[in-house]
Amino acid sequence: MTLQNLSKILDKYDQKLGSSSLGRFELLKGLPFYNWQNPQDTRTLNHIIGLPQKNGQYYPLFDYEQLVFDTLQNHKQIWIKKATGLGITEFIVRYMAWLCFREEHSLSGNQMCIVTGPRIELAITLIDRMKDLFHSGKMLNHRTIFDTKETVIELNGVHIEAYPSHHLDAMRGLTNVTFIYLDEADFFPPGQQQDARDVSERYIAKSNPWIVMVSTPNAPEGLFEKIEREPEGTCLYKRLFLDYTYGLDRIYTTEEIEKAKASPSFEREYNLKYLGKVGNVFHTLDIEAAICTHQEAQEMMNWSTSMMIGRSMGIDVAWGDTSKFAIVITQFRNRKVEVFYAESFEKPQMNYIINHIMQLKHRHHCTKIYVDGANPEVIRELKSRIGEYHDYYGRLTEEQIWGLRSSNSWQIIPVNFQKRHREMLQWTYTLLSKRFIKIHPTLQKLIVSLRKATISDDWKLDKQQTSHSDTFDSFRLALCNYELPKQSA
Ligand SMILES: Nc1ncnc2c1ncn2[C@@H]1O[C@H](COP(=O)(O)OP(=O)(O)OP(=O)(O)O)[C@@H](O)[C@H]1O
Ligand SMILES: [Mg+2]
Repeated sequence: MTLQNLSKILDKYDQKLGSSSLGRFELLKGLPFYNWQNPQDTRTLNHIIGLPQKNGQYYPLFDYEQLVFDTLQNHKQIWIKKATGLGITEFIVRYMAWLCFREEHSLSGNQMCIVTGPRIELAITLIDRMKDLFHSGKMLNHRTIFDTKETVIELNGVHIEAYPSHHLDAMRGLTNVTFIYLDEADFFPPGQQQDARDVSERYIAKSNPWIVMVSTPNAPEGLFEKIEREPEGTCLYKRLFLDYTYGLDRIYTTEEIEKAKASPSFEREYNLKYLGKVGNVFHTLDIEAAICTHQEAQEMMNWSTSMMIGRSMGIDVAWGDTSKFAIVITQFRNRKVEVFYAESFEKPQMNYIINHIMQLKHRHHCTKIYVDGANPEVIRELKSRIGEYHDYYGRLTEEQIWGLRSSNSWQIIPVNFQKRHREMLQWTYTLLSKRFIKIHPTLQKLIVSLRKATISDDWKLDKQQTSHSDTFDSFRLALCNYELPKQSA
């Protein structure tokens, strides 16, 4: 059917129904969503409301959308990690609209919920997008037909409402919820991610709705990574991974992707990596240069217990809920600082962690251990285990202790983090940008912390923005051991 023919049909229809746009909704009832076998078939909801557009051009629905469509037929809970701009928001909004018209009144009286990020504008935008579906294509341009509030649309008796993620109380206690769509859920603020998930999943027992959770990946250890790590047998969600390759020569041109590859956020935005926002301290190229090859990593490990070279350990102490106890070990070899160990521990027992540190110290012959000086209990314990004089408080000034950091007088060295954090960060920057650092490729937490490291002002690390800041802190502590080789300084 040509668009002209379709217009004629609609015009006739209008005459019959007194040109009411409500009448035009009648046309949508019972239509198939899309004819995947024959995309030329225009008797589908997507043709009647108008195919999706980009840059003024109409596009068909793509094979990866058929994959999502088929998955929705067989699963009620779906998790989609996707590249940006694939058109998934558009697709889900269309799918929800289709469900409302699929069968005469079958969902009338039901509710659908859309959960967006915390700003109310996001909720309004999504509902606007849904309303716009009925203002394009062959539908009449009657904005007034939606006389509901900005975050609500009623379609064929179905109440669809968008809720910002900080306002989920209003989404509790609804009846007959048939569809919940969480859009860009990995970008909800950390405190609201779990809440959104809990509120949604509580409806499974009540009305078993579709729960469709969609996002490009954000930071490590967020909602999406947690769900991704859940074992296949127990994860509620059918998981789909749609990286940029699905959209190549469909929604993206090769040129667009080549251009996007130049951006430091490409891996997160298009290639499904949890990198969070790229930080503003270290250059991506310097970080990439620091990550060593498989062969270099093997050699690094072969040397990691040799007594011929010096090693340092950095310890960031933490016992509580909000941060982790982190340990990093480095060694100096081939005029490079090599990092081969970086681990963090959640709420460790004091005894356990001290024993662990001592084992690491002995195995790798660490001759220097730098500890955040705000933790005298750990420093005293470590010093007493190796028989080092530990009654230093009040006898040496902070300046004197700092001056000892690369001397051989002490093995366990307290560092006044509060006072020295900028110097240590600048020193880390110098070593990394001068390419004196080599990092074992498996130390993902450390690598991610470098990628994300963000300073707010005056070289102060922004811990909210930086992932694994505890690992990063123990890394900069371990680097207190080093000075630039003379000829390169
Ligand atoms: N086949 C298609 N399916 C969906 N959207 C399409 C299609 N073809 C073109 N588009 C257009 O692509 C644009 C991008 O869509 P959308 O915002 O839904 O992407 P997204 O995957 O949600 O990306 P984002 O990461 O920005 O949220 C929209 O303007 C939409 O109309
Ligand atoms: Mg989207």
